[in-house]
Amino acid sequence: MKIVHVASEMFPYIKTGGLADVVGALANELARKGHEVTVFLPGYRSVIEHPDVAPSLRQSLGRLRIEMGNRFMSGDWQAFSPASNLRVCLVCREEFFDRRLPYGNGERDYEDNYLRFIFFCKAVVEIMRSTDLDADIVHGHDWQAGLLPLLLRAVEQRYRRNLAMRTVHTIHNIAFQGLFWMGSFYRTNLPAELMGIDGVEYYGQASMMKAGLLFADRVTTVSPQYAREIQTPEFGCGLDGVVQLRVDDLSGMINGINHKIWHPASDKLLPANYSREDLEGKQKCRTELLREEGFDPEYQGTVFGMVCRLTEQKGVQLVLANQEFFEREDVKLIILGAGDQRLEEAVRKLCAALPEKVAHHAALDERLSHLVEAGSDFFLMPSMFEPCGLNQMYSQVYGTVPVATRVGGLIDTVVDIEDDPEAGTGILVEATAEGVETGLTRALALKADPDRYSAVQTNGMKRDFSWKSAAEAYAAFYEELV
Ligand code: ADP
Ligand code: GLC
Repeated sequence: MKIVHVASEMFPYIKTGGLADVVGALANELARKGHEVTVFLPGYRSVIEHPDVAPSLRQSLGRLRIEMGNRFMSGDWQAFSPASNLRVCLVCREEFFDRRLPYGNGERDYEDNYLRFIFFCKAVVEIMRSTDLDADIVHGHDWQAGLLPLLLRAVEQRYRRNLAMRTVHTIHNIAFQGLFWMGSFYRTNLPAELMGIDGVEYYGQASMMKAGLLFADRVTTVSPQYAREIQTPEFGCGLDGVVQLRVDDLSGMINGINHKIWHPASDKLLPANYSREDLEGKQKCRTELLREEGFDPEYQGTVFGMVCRLTEQKGVQLVLANQEFFEREDVKLIILGAGDQRLEEAVRKLCAALPEKVAHHAALDERLSHLVEAGSDFFLMPSMFEPCGLNQMYSQVYGTVPVATRVGGLIDTVVDIEDDPEAGTGILVEATAEGVETGLTRALALKADPDRYSAVQTNGMKRDFSWKSAAEAYAAFYEELV
């Protein structure tokens, strides 16, 4: 099959979260299976400057002239092939994409995001049209690709030509909807009737996520549990009614993890490797992590690790509400996470109050994220909602027992040790401050029983979260669709 993915992130070229890992791994795995895969990405500065995308490896494929409302905007497109059957196409326009960060300046979102992503989606369709790409599946991810099904079908009508058999839209996180003032919609050159409630309108604004959700042939999200949750007001972020309209075309498919990058036996970013049969390397990673954080490397108590975007979604506030637990107990807490300024400040205060117990790095640090996964005893993931979540899967494979909340993909991927004493792999708790306290306390009790702790660790390390089966599910889904 000819499969086109359209996304705003792809590991290793541009990443702010799990979307990048998913697009990178899924595209590679589908290509490995023999499908012809094209990924469209914005030509962000970080992509253009990435060492794997040197100018000598990139082909310039021509200029773009894109109609954006009452004017035309120019750009160009380039492509490179990181693996056989896989081509990455970059939509470039310096004014839009040559910036330090992809979505905002660190404090707030860029004001021209609507223009940037309308341009991106229109350019993708224009490239597909002008190159006869003739795709079986066009698969868009999150709001940045939400307009794609509408734009694609509009161009097909205009040129009386088929550009793609079927469109798929995946919701990785319904909390980010790509909402813009309704006036921006004329830049799409789509019919004005689409601006109504049966179209992209969302409480007086234009919603790019709603466009994808309503107009793609099929909608998927990244876990079966989240597919159910987004049909409810509690998790639907105002789009639950729209999700319900598409329920017959909606499925939840769990993400996989990329073992080439995330496996303790071969992880190149760790000071030592290890396996289920021989955990000595894990001990070395723990010692190194403690040393790097300025703690006693021989510390024998319990080490909690946390790696996330610092946002309310990830439940950082639930951890902060448990300051007393960290004051009272002999534990360490290592947090790697940047994001919301207010939460960063609050975490800094916790560190200042308990410098001998809590360490924090407000950075995006790929190497350290692997070390925290490998070197901690427990991985803390107290999300308020979690469409899928990758870190809880990484941590199980790394023998680091997850303490997570009972939401979304966390329910689908962690087996609570009380629910299933034989096969349990982690601790699941309610998404409240009390729930997190229960989780932390249960973790201490588990650690105090070394045989039990090691059995739970082994259960996690035995689990298969590889992309191989996850990509097979996508391939079967595409086959059925075409
Ligand atoms: P989300 O996409 O909601 O952020 P996921 O669990 O799906 O959550 O994926 C997060 C990804 O981003 C993981 O690969 C995680 O290791 C990575 N990540 C998050 N924060 C950081 C950070 N501060 N430094 C390095 N990697 C991070
Ligand atoms: C989103 C979600 C996360 C998911 C990731 C990849 O960022 O917040 O739960 O794992 O997308 O699908």
